Amino acid sequence: MSHLRAVPSGSSGPERRGSAASVRVEAPGKVNLYLSCGVPGADGYHPLVTVFQAVRLIERVTARRQSQERAGRITISLEEPDARIPVDGSNLAVRAAALLAERAGVAEGVDLLVRKRVPVAGGMAGGSADAAATLLACNTLWETGLDSEELMVLGAELGADVPFPLAGFTALGHGRGDSLSPLMTRGRYTWVFALAKWGLSTPHVFKRFDEMAAAGKLPTDPAVPVPAPEALTAALRAGDARRLADCLHNDLQPAALSLRPELECVIEAAQGAGALRAIVSGSGPTVAALVPESGAATVARALEALPGVAGTVRADAPVAGARVVR
Ligand code: C5P
Repeated sequence: MSHLRAVPSGSSGPERRGSAASVRVEAPGKVNLYLSCGVPGADGYHPLVTVFQAVRLIERVTARRQSQERAGRITISLEEPDARIPVDGSNLAVRAAALLAERAGVAEGVDLLVRKRVPVAGGMAGGSADAAATLLACNTLWETGLDSEELMVLGAELGADVPFPLAGFTALGHGRGDSLSPLMTRGRYTWVFALAKWGLSTPHVFKRFDEMAAAGKLPTDPAVPVPAPEALTAALRAGDARRLADCLHNDLQPAALSLRPELECVIEAAQGAGALRAIVSGSGPTVAALVPESGAATVARALEALPGVAGTVRADAPVAGARVVR
């Protein structure tokens, strides 16, 4: 529980905004179909060109109004407690609620309840989806009236991956990956994700990318990110999973593999069991296998037999961005 804002002494509690007792929002995790990374700028961030796809692994955030006596704090709890996830002011969802409250001049607090379905520390933006869901939930609860564009701008302040779960579906990202334009797609894609027993830290993977780039150990020269190939956007427009498989690409994969060489076996096992293609998802360590719909169970079984794999989850894509469900 975090205590970000104290109720002013002698007050009967801050002014209430809005009337709903609670608002529930769902937001999706993501897979990067394409990720090209350049050398970092002065701010330490890497310029990216990426293609995000929202997958049906859905985070759920319920923002609940507090009783008048304890109003003014932002707290978070998890439906299923998980030691890897902080439940204090460092949680990105708490920071999202605090940022919106500060910008919109809201003094009352909120109790956040989170149900997680995106693998934790897996390179699938689960924490970012929680932050995105929290922005929409609190904006609705407090009736602060920001439009989706404004929520995305706030989201980008919290993290490069926060705007995309607000948008959902399939989108091209540039800048830090936070400047989005939607991409037209047809059809549905089936993914099997292999979850690793241990997480990988995103900053560590970017750092290893820099070390490998400086040592000339990357297959391409990463001065600037390379635009997504026309073949990829054409495959998406055609709804052709096989052609899409040929275009999947992740510049961070060599860095993730150098930190976790066992992921190479996961990729090979997925492809050996019938996946159209398998790549490291984002900064990893989750491996994302694009599969023919009828082949998902076979690929999942093959991956679950590997010693480094904690489990698999299957998800179809693309799905919508954050939305209020109650
Ligand atoms: O933006 P976010 O907090 O999600 O990023 C986590 C870390 O990943 C950053 O602190 C930075 O080290 C790295 N990163 C990067 N370039 C990007 C996005 C993230 O170097 N475009």
